[in-house]
Amino acid sequence: MVPEQVRLTDYPAGRPVRDFWARSRDGLRAPEPGDVVVRIDWISVDPGMTGWITDKRSYMPPVRPGEVMRAFGVGEVIDSRSDRLQVGDWVTGFLGVQTAGVFKDRMVRRIPTELAPPQLFLSGLGMTGYTAYFGMMDLGCPQAGETVVVSAASGAVGSMAAQLARDAGARVIGIAGGEEKCRYLTDQLGLDAAIDYKAGQVAAQLQTLAPDEVDLYFDNVGGDILDTLLMNMTYQGRIVVCGGISQYADWATQKGPANYMQLVTHSLTMRGFTMRDYMHRVPEALDVLIRGWADGRLKCREHIVEGLDRFPEAFDMLFDGRNHGKLMIRVAHAS
Ligand SMILES: NC(=O)c1ccc[n+]([C@@H]2O[C@H](COP(=O)([O-])OP(=O)(O)OC[C@H]3O[C@@H](n4cnc5c(N)ncnc54)[C@H](OP(=O)(O)O)[C@@H]3O)[C@@H](O)[C@H]2O)c1
Repeated sequence: MVPEQVRLTDYPAGRPVRDFWARSRDGLRAPEPGDVVVRIDWISVDPGMTGWITDKRSYMPPVRPGEVMRAFGVGEVIDSRSDRLQVGDWVTGFLGVQTAGVFKDRMVRRIPTELAPPQLFLSGLGMTGYTAYFGMMDLGCPQAGETVVVSAASGAVGSMAAQLARDAGARVIGIAGGEEKCRYLTDQLGLDAAIDYKAGQVAAQLQTLAPDEVDLYFDNVGGDILDTLLMNMTYQGRIVVCGGISQYADWATQKGPANYMQLVTHSLTMRGFTMRDYMHRVPEALDVLIRGWADGRLKCREHIVEGLDRFPEAFDMLFDGRNHGKLMIRVAHAS
């Protein structure tokens, strides 16, 4: 097996970033004691990758030009010099946009594929699920009877966050782009209502659907939608800032909300976070999510793109909403 990699060629100034990738076919380094060799089968494509390919200040160091692109992945151990992991174990971690790699055993985590299919540990039972769980349940704390709004609600994080709020007894309104995604939210996920922001009139629809105002807003998008929500929050309402995808086109020109004085006039709390704050509590999230998935309460929709060579195209899909669910690449391996 000759491994293949996708490498960053330079820091893009904005989007699209399609031309900033190069393919390579470099052999694996020889494994040392404590290493495992992993055949990578699934690669996660995440909006947060935009923050890894900029030299602007972020929560982790950027990928440097020439390096293999960073990505979460799932794969099987095919050779082991580790006393913690054996051949045949399935693992997850930052495996990179590549078909195989050699990793220190402490840099990857074994996943219980006897309980669920491997790729679910990149979506609802993986990082996006954990993000939704901690952002919604630990920071948002939805209460029965409250009105909760989630943006990018049909996506990987949003759909899990919305379902968790629904299960907490809240009245949940999802915001998503297009009729199909809105129908999915109400008909498949059982949300109380959905707003198609691409059809316009978000403020008017919000006032109709939540005349008593919004108690909790789980923000995945920032920009105009955040500004609209700021004008519709109840006194002492809470905003959890999970992401701001509308502002990811260019990290140099990101704009904050114009209506931020509502934080003062309505005594609002606005709190951001990353999964870095919660890595020590992953087993707790996995336990809750796996039970919810197993009993059919939590649905995880996946959008699978075939082949490593389609990574540049897949990455762009996130920003025009062409993904319907957790976006990931299935890696083809020559037999
Ligand atoms: N804090 C953390 O630790 C953490 C971890 C993971 C992810 N996140 C954040 O969570 C958010 C969602 O990530 P995800 O992985 O679940 O992706 P996703 O929601 O599965 O996919 C991204 C979706 O965002 C929507 N979108 C794109 N551009 C938009 C715009 N300008 N305005 C409004 N919506 C837009 C699109 O859906 P529509 O068709 O509905 O527009 C697109 O399908 C992102 O902001 C991401 O950075 C944060």
